[in-house]
Amino acid sequence: MSQKPAVLFVCLGNICRSPLAEAAFRVEAARRGLDVEVDSAGTGHWHVGEPPDRRAQETARRHGAEIGQQRARQVTRDDFRRFTHIVALDLPVLSALRRLRPENGIAELALLLDHVEGRRGQPVADPYYGDDDGFETTWADVTSGAAALARKIAGP
Ligand code: 4NP
Repeated sequence: MSQKPAVLFVCLGNICRSPLAEAAFRVEAARRGLDVEVDSAGTGHWHVGEPPDRRAQETARRHGAEIGQQRARQVTRDDFRRFTHIVALDLPVLSALRRLRPENGIAELALLLDHVEGRRGQPVADPYYGDDDGFETTWADVTSGAAALARKIAGP
């Protein structure tokens, strides 16, 4: 790949799952010394400009990551040219991204858990309407996905 790797994680609101995926991937990339751009976005517009959900911030903090500085934004068609990898957190998001993708997009589009052995096709469940435990499950899932993706990008 000639272009520097750039990874965009996308969920619905960009306040719960994709901010945590971004944080988990930053941890993995740093651990491996990967030179990679990382960002997150949502397919929806409802939370644009807001910081991540308080429960997501607390979950990240419990695992040593600070995400309070992140601000939600909506994914754009231009993202398909800026990023080498666009990673959907669930299937409706993947479908929305397929519809949005421009002809000249370069980004490889996949579901996050497709990168994890034995979890192909599985979504990272939306914790927004659930209790705090759901966010711990989200963190575990995004950490598995981020580790597997970082391993692939790092190469042999
Ligand atoms: P996320 O969670 O997609 O993981 O950020 C959600 C956040 C907000 C809404 C839905 C999901 N919402 O409907 O406002």
